[in-house]
Amino acid sequence: MQTVVAPQGDVKDRSLAERGRARIAWAAASMPVLAQIRERFEKEKPLRGVRIGACLHVTTETANLMLALQAGGAQTALCASNPLSTQDDVAAALCEFGIPTFAIKGEDHARYYSHIESVIGTRPQMSMDDGCDLVTTIFKEHKDLLADMIGGCEETTTGVIRLRAMQRDGVLPYPVIAVNNALTKHMFDNRYGTGQSTLDGIVRATNVLIAGKNVVVVGYGWCGRGIASRAAGLGGHVIVVEVDPRKAIEAVMDGYRVMPIAQAAKTGDIFVTVTGNYHVIGEEHFRAMKDGAIVCNSGHFNDELDLEAVERLSVRKSEPRAFVEQYELSDGRNVCILAQGRLVNLAAGEGHPAAVMDMSFANQAMCAAHLAKQHRSLEKKVYDVPVEIDEEVARLKLDSMGITIDTLTPEQAKYMESWSEGT
Ligand code: ADE
Repeated sequence: MQTVVAPQGDVKDRSLAERGRARIAWAAASMPVLAQIRERFEKEKPLRGVRIGACLHVTTETANLMLALQAGGAQTALCASNPLSTQDDVAAALCEFGIPTFAIKGEDHARYYSHIESVIGTRPQMSMDDGCDLVTTIFKEHKDLLADMIGGCEETTTGVIRLRAMQRDGVLPYPVIAVNNALTKHMFDNRYGTGQSTLDGIVRATNVLIAGKNVVVVGYGWCGRGIASRAAGLGGHVIVVEVDPRKAIEAVMDGYRVMPIAQAAKTGDIFVTVTGNYHVIGEEHFRAMKDGAIVCNSGHFNDELDLEAVERLSVRKSEPRAFVEQYELSDGRNVCILAQGRLVNLAAGEGHPAAVMDMSFANQAMCAAHLAKQHRSLEKKVYDVPVEIDEEVARLKLDSMGITIDTLTPEQAKYMESWSEGT
């Protein structure tokens, strides 16, 4: 086995570690499924000696995932998957747990990529990504690692889209499991996690009252559905913007107004983008907005907003509160951009609550063990999470909530398999 001496990490302030430890323990109390997997990993060591490079949001929940992987015998190194999502106390604590962590909240582009390089410097055999930056950097600049890579896991929709594009172009360098695609991931994390944490991020940044406001949700995937339902629950009047006619009908039948962005731009008080696409709010939309409009993004990349356009249109910029940049346009109107257009839930808030990340990261941990065991039989493809893992995560979560469910009787099971019964 090759030994690689890992560096210590690069964090804001090592003295924050004690606070980080306390908050990691607080999150752990809401992650019973991951705790069970960690116990199992401690006994079985399914990741013994596997070097894992992770590029994830550095939060208390991620810390608990890293500790589970470590308990399973992995040697892990971690960097941030977004320049603004790092919790500096958690990064400091992780270094003390022996997990080299390279992440500083507010790091610039160069530091962000130098941190990815530091993780790559530990010569990972498995990647764990949230947004695919690690896979693409390894593929573009570190082909020497590929011979040793056994596989990877991807956390988010945007990353899965990129991986599928790599597969289509014949350049996916190793098998990757699309953790996002597990039902126990996207139906809960993307919907209830993004729904709650996005509203939380907006409110923490601005202290705005949602009740009575026109809240424009751009994109009605699982994240958009969650944000719309939570905004409506707080009394917001939700407007949905979509390009997919099927999702648009769903939004209408869920009780929301649906209209093109050009029309919504004039009507909205608060805008949230969650499309995974490029410049969905651009110059003509900023020009049309009401005075005081609040604009933010909860999709993976900040390029959902054309931030250069708003810079170009503005005559003055101020920061009345942390994570609020107020742009004064030439006619005196103001438009506020939250968290520099980065994921508002993680930059201005703390990301999804631990209880929902419990299922996402249980999937991650079990998929890592699956890759370690099965990688020889896998091809360079994007794989869905094995259904047995998805179902086990759901069962463990229900158990932890003290909820029992029925099972099919033998006759019912047989009935479901047969085609001969009719009217
Ligand atoms: N993505 C969204 N919320 C998160 C969290 N709390 N931790 C890690 N990744 C996340």
